[in-house]
Amino acid sequence: MTWHIMGAGSMGCLWTAQFLKAGMKPTLLLREQRLHTLQTKDPVLAIEELDGTTHHYPINLESPQSLTTSIEYLLVCTKAQDAEAAVHSVADQLSDQCQILLMQNGLGSQQAIAQHFSSQTVWAASTTEGAWMKDFLHVCHAGHGSTWIGPMGHTPDESTWQGLRSSLEKLPVDIQYTHPIELKLWDKLAVNCAINGLTALYDCKNGELLDTEERRARLAALTEEVTQVRSAAGIPTPGNLLELVKQVCRDTAMNNSSTCMDARQGRKTELTFINGYLIEQAAKLGVKTPANQQLMRELANLGIQ
Ligand code: PAF
Repeated sequence: MTWHIMGAGSMGCLWTAQFLKAGMKPTLLLREQRLHTLQTKDPVLAIEELDGTTHHYPINLESPQSLTTSIEYLLVCTKAQDAEAAVHSVADQLSDQCQILLMQNGLGSQQAIAQHFSSQTVWAASTTEGAWMKDFLHVCHAGHGSTWIGPMGHTPDESTWQGLRSSLEKLPVDIQYTHPIELKLWDKLAVNCAINGLTALYDCKNGELLDTEERRARLAALTEEVTQVRSAAGIPTPGNLLELVKQVCRDTAMNNSSTCMDARQGRKTELTFINGYLIEQAAKLGVKTPANQQLMRELANLGIQ
């Protein structure tokens, strides 16, 4: 049972390391150009654990072009804006029974992939695992979390569920299966709508969003708009989204959000799939989103997109 993993960032490397720890032999897919610039014939993935120890694992690297076998299980850990192109780049190698597991922030990319690859089974995941990259192929595990997985689109039959479950059962990760996954993706969307853009705007750690009255008020306004859009879209909100957002700020207080890091390094952020997605859905549903729109304008004025 071989998993192919796309995206050599923090989540891609963290999950690759979990497969390696479980004694499985995943293949990490890199861009052809990246693969060619590697200096070594025996690449190693390093993971720094929460207790400070570092483990090194020999790792199988390929590019979509160099692959000779078909893909049965594909985990996509790229940024949201790169996910569709990534799956298309291996479309010819996907087996008919291929299971595609998407692990992106935000919403929009998952639906597009599920729609296009309707003959394969597409799953989406929402995770609270924390990780950051120290260097290329050197990941630091920043915090244990939980991961929820559920199908996008049509409901898979029992043997497909079982196939996915058994392919992941040895991983040293807390995985919960849920259907529909949309509820979890919307919970995560609320967290990302509130935290990611603001941490980029204030160039601060997640926990620092709770430091001032102004920041707390902005967190609340952004989250309230997610609740309104979600409810207009007919997606129930079982708990208190603002409490969830604040809890994530506390749990990841010392972390820099992925968007804050992207902004610092001048990279394109995932905000189009986060606040951008919310604003687009709100417009279709006739819901106003002034707090999210103002945040996007302020970020654009700083050149953060
Ligand atoms: O994008 C991120 O950085 C994470 O999803 C989160 C939850 C905001 C924690 O930093």
